[in-house]
Amino acid sequence: MAGLHAPHMAMINSNFLKLKAGYLFPEIARRVNAFTTENPDHAGEIIRCGIGDVTEPLPPSIVAAFHEGVDEQADRATFRGYGPEQGYAFLREAIVENQFAGMGIGADEVFVSDGSKCDTGNILDIFGPGNTIAITDPVYPVYVDTNVMAGNTGDADENGAYKGLLYLPCTAENQFVAEVPDARADLIYLCFPNNPTGAVATRGMLEAWVRYARENDAIILFDAAYEAFIRDPEIPHSIYEIDGARECAIEFRSFSKNGGFTGVRCAFTVVPKTVTGKAADGTRVPLHQLWNRRQSTKFNGASYPVQKAAAAVFSPQGKTEVKALIDHYMGNAALLREACLALGLKVFGGENAPYVWVGCPEGLTSWDMFDKMLNEARIVITPGSGFGSAGEGYFRISAFNSRENVEEVCRRLTALVS
Ligand code: MLT
Repeated sequence: MAGLHAPHMAMINSNFLKLKAGYLFPEIARRVNAFTTENPDHAGEIIRCGIGDVTEPLPPSIVAAFHEGVDEQADRATFRGYGPEQGYAFLREAIVENQFAGMGIGADEVFVSDGSKCDTGNILDIFGPGNTIAITDPVYPVYVDTNVMAGNTGDADENGAYKGLLYLPCTAENQFVAEVPDARADLIYLCFPNNPTGAVATRGMLEAWVRYARENDAIILFDAAYEAFIRDPEIPHSIYEIDGARECAIEFRSFSKNGGFTGVRCAFTVVPKTVTGKAADGTRVPLHQLWNRRQSTKFNGASYPVQKAAAAVFSPQGKTEVKALIDHYMGNAALLREACLALGLKVFGGENAPYVWVGCPEGLTSWDMFDKMLNEARIVITPGSGFGSAGEGYFRISAFNSRENVEEVCRRLTALVS
């Protein structure tokens, strides 16, 4: 009696069927693998500036703390089993002291996790259906795809834009910083310093967003995974530097890009107790309570040695070593910017962010440029259109690499384009 609506059948979440192709980075990996299979002699020449993955090893003081954590697990006297789902107090306290001093954030408002990608997706568990969701275009694809999976969108149109999402265009005209829209939204994803464009928001711009959120009873989901790369002292690192944000914003932070934890995995999300959402009966419910419940049910905490290692990011030695790492990557970004500028290309980002956002040479689409760079220069970049239709005509170069590789990328790019 098999049929379309047979009663005994494992039904899937059909929202997944609305998703376009693969997630951007696996799709890039697929194309790179195809190239290396077809051109095995050139496989070794490939330089990867696509995914924003760090390349430099963990700094020594962080490694030492990591080892110490493992050694403690090897001894009955110091062994630890399950830790708190929200993270160990020593790490939550170090985070608040070092990153949120004077902003009114309590250690119990910090939830340690194994990654910001997971947290930005998982946060949708605590929001109901029917919200109007604003996202920038271009955008980090995780915000979009997780909303598609959660059933918060309709189908994608021919440009890949999903019905039901409120897209905020970011273009060269607005310096890739989304303006506050006329329409109202319930949830707004903002990412500064921005992935993919490397744009940063001034205090005034963030104030406008906080004002908008408060006037519209909306929540800002603020992704600050790249805050460590901010060089300009006028640019806020946290949304909580803005008055009123404690009432309307959740912030995501990561150890991936500052401490080099992309493989180690540690991040955290700040949910102030003062941020509330509405229940169906109109009562206001603190989001902190819901996220705490969500994490306690579905997550068992980041591992103890990893949290020990993360806390070492804030030790005096750790700070010096992390600063050297950031300086290294930002030195790369400066070289990449200079090379692209010298070629007469339009260049954005790379000054307060590890991503350089570049206009494609005349007549090339983003994927044309991706293929040209891969096939002719053996360089992997990320096509701007993979981040949304407003990214068409641009490509992103990641500054996460060795200096030697970046110098070689500059040489090859110059030979390719000039
Ligand atoms: C990127 O390349 O955009 C990053 O790797 C994304 C991430 O951190 O997940």
